Amino acid sequence: MTEPLVRTVDLTRVYGDGAEIMALDGVSIQVEAGELVTVMGPSGSGKSTLLNMIGALDQPTSGKVYVGGQNLAELKHVDSFRAETVGFIFQLHNLLPTLTARENVEVPMMGQRSSHERTKRAHELLEMVDLGDRMDHLPNQLSGGQRQRVAVARALANNPPLILADEPTGSLDTSAGRALMELLKDLNASQNTTFIVVTHDPAVARLTNRVLVMEDGRIVREDDVGSPLEEDLRMWRHSELGVRILSRDGELGRQLEISPAQREVLQQLLRSANGES
Ligand SMILES: Nc1ncnc2c1ncn2[C@@H]1O[C@H](COP(=O)(O)OP(=O)(O)O)[C@@H](O)[C@H]1O
Ligand SMILES: [Mg+2]
Repeated sequence: MTEPLVRTVDLTRVYGDGAEIMALDGVSIQVEAGELVTVMGPSGSGKSTLLNMIGALDQPTSGKVYVGGQNLAELKHVDSFRAETVGFIFQLHNLLPTLTARENVEVPMMGQRSSHERTKRAHELLEMVDLGDRMDHLPNQLSGGQRQRVAVARALANNPPLILADEPTGSLDTSAGRALMELLKDLNASQNTTFIVVTHDPAVARLTNRVLVMEDGRIVREDDVGSPLEEDLRMWRHSELGVRILSRDGELGRQLEISPAQREVLQQLLRSANGES
């Protein structure tokens, strides 16, 4: 069995010393290399705390975090771990306001590459996130979605195997948020970068393969989102018509092979079963 890229074992994090807050309460998860996973859950459920532990921004009260097989409690060079192994994307992009898009992308490469290489790499990355024509703009000359794309390019600068994104679409409107998620999906597929993305937008979560749901510092559910069809069938099981049809055929099955045309019909059925047009 190969080691997952990320593994947490019974992770806890307690804040405060009087009235203690259990921000994480026994979280054990595994994320394989190449996955795109979302973490959902209400505000205060521990999502950011979990991400901070995985990125070695904070230390657990108890339990362990392994990234690439490395126990983070035994890290000798935390700075180089942060520079080389993980990239971060936050809700508010955290770009330096006085630096251009290109210079912002170069920041994590300082001390790692020559000036010439940094510029070249920043160019490539900004092209990749479709900002080739905005390299010399300052953050305040860019839209929210564009700024967040610069933040994505910056997170990719040192080509880390893992990117942690904490509500990256949280400050964007629906269409910019959707475009950003599509970008992350493309990067996941084309660069094989592993992503753990915190969101409280179910539409965003549906775009990914696997959703971890948190409540009160625990993982309370884990959903394989899979294809949209699978989601639809799941909903179907909860509709009256769906239940009747499914029971006639026994279990119609999760892994049903189905053509796009058949799927369209099923979706129409589903909509009418749910009382939509
Ligand atoms: N630095 C801190 N000091 C004290 N309590 C904190 C701190 N950071 C987070 N918490 C608490 O831990 C819990 C989980 O927080 P957080 O991980 O930020 O949740 P989420 O990201 O899901 O909104 C919350 O109750 C929050 O108030
Ligand atoms: Mg948070």
